[in-house]
Amino acid sequence: MAAAGSAIGLGNIWKFPYETGENGGGAFLIVYLLCVLLFGMPLLMTEFLIGRKAGKSTFSAFREISGSNRWQWLGWLSSFTVFILLGFYFVVTGWCFNYLYEAIFNSYIGMGTDELLNHFTAITSNPLRMSFCSIIPIFLTAAVLWFGVTQGIERLSKILMPLLIVMMIVMAGRVMMLDGSSIGMRFLFEVDFSKITPQIFMEAAGQCFFSLSIGLGLLITYGAYMPKDQDASMTSFQVLFLDTLVALLAGVIIFPAVFAFGFNPAEGPQLVFVVLPAVMQHMSFVWFSGVFFFSLLCIAAITSTISLMEVVVAAITEFTHGKINRHKSVLITTGLMSLLAVIYVLSMTNTWPALRFFDKDLFQIVDDLVTIFLMPVSALCMSLFVGWFMPAKDIDVVPYSKNSFKKWSRPIFVFLLRWFVPIAILLVFLNGLGII
Ligand code: PHE
Repeated sequence: MAAAGSAIGLGNIWKFPYETGENGGGAFLIVYLLCVLLFGMPLLMTEFLIGRKAGKSTFSAFREISGSNRWQWLGWLSSFTVFILLGFYFVVTGWCFNYLYEAIFNSYIGMGTDELLNHFTAITSNPLRMSFCSIIPIFLTAAVLWFGVTQGIERLSKILMPLLIVMMIVMAGRVMMLDGSSIGMRFLFEVDFSKITPQIFMEAAGQCFFSLSIGLGLLITYGAYMPKDQDASMTSFQVLFLDTLVALLAGVIIFPAVFAFGFNPAEGPQLVFVVLPAVMQHMSFVWFSGVFFFSLLCIAAITSTISLMEVVVAAITEFTHGKINRHKSVLITTGLMSLLAVIYVLSMTNTWPALRFFDKDLFQIVDDLVTIFLMPVSALCMSLFVGWFMPAKDIDVVPYSKNSFKKWSRPIFVFLLRWFVPIAILLVFLNGLGII
């Protein structure tokens, strides 16, 4: 449940719908599901396995297993990736907090399609408001880490995450009753194979890494804490199943509503933030539904930011060999994160044009850099590490309870890790960039 809490977040509810909308609906969905199965499953298992074998967090796990410092850079790469990703994750979490505030004060009630679009643009081009909204979740996350109440939050999210799923099912039911909703369902589920391009493979693979939280070594820490008799393959499957379920639910809410209200499915990152307020206006108990849903969304985002910020806090303590203690590290991370989030905001709102490169703002650059490049590259290295460098016996003995790792699944797992995952990531990557 803790790993699922890290995995389920804005990646499912915000990113999945807009990526699907921009990349042709059903065509993207089918490629995404393929990636989840062929990349997601083995890589989730890999991270749990490394953690379980090493009993350490990302940072020291590679040293522990390989007995040398040769793989240490992977720990650094992950920490750096988490750092730049987290700043941008906080900005989007800020958007969620903004909409929670608006739900409380009924601000979006009565707005039509165009008004909602203009409203989003107005909010996100206001640097002060955006900076303020991003800093709220940074401080909340820091408070959780400072007071060491991570476990309490995890216990709480065991109740709240199922509630989020129930709420989303109710919303999907409501949206289905709108006129024109079936067009959205067809958009999401009808596959037009002619739309499947190399670019879609690259986007779908990136989305799969982002949504499942793989490729950052973050789940290595979860693997280290996993009880020895727990079946890691079953756990991986459960995380994958829940994560995909929430993404699909988000799709089933957003796309019927997109077509029923006359939005453009390829609206981009603002998609869910303009469509959801429109949906909320059609729910019963409008005020309560809005406040309830946006609160759950904020909590889903915060459970992810906690797991991410923990990596940065731990990296600073490890780097200074404990000279900077945990509390100081939380303070430093909070300061750095706030600075980074404000830099992203200044770039996105075009307040500081020098922060735009190649006609893209930092937000888009970091998004592409992390999901399309850094996460796949480090996932590729991890699969090579386990597939080729870890002694074969470790694959058998450590990660699974004996009866569960059935005879047929081991060769599949090893094949996927040694050959399929590295080669496929490389091909997807080179193809998507137009090199082959
Ligand atoms: N998987 C999270 C989401 O879908 C984001 C995340 C990525 C969290 C990587 C941790 C590590 O929102």
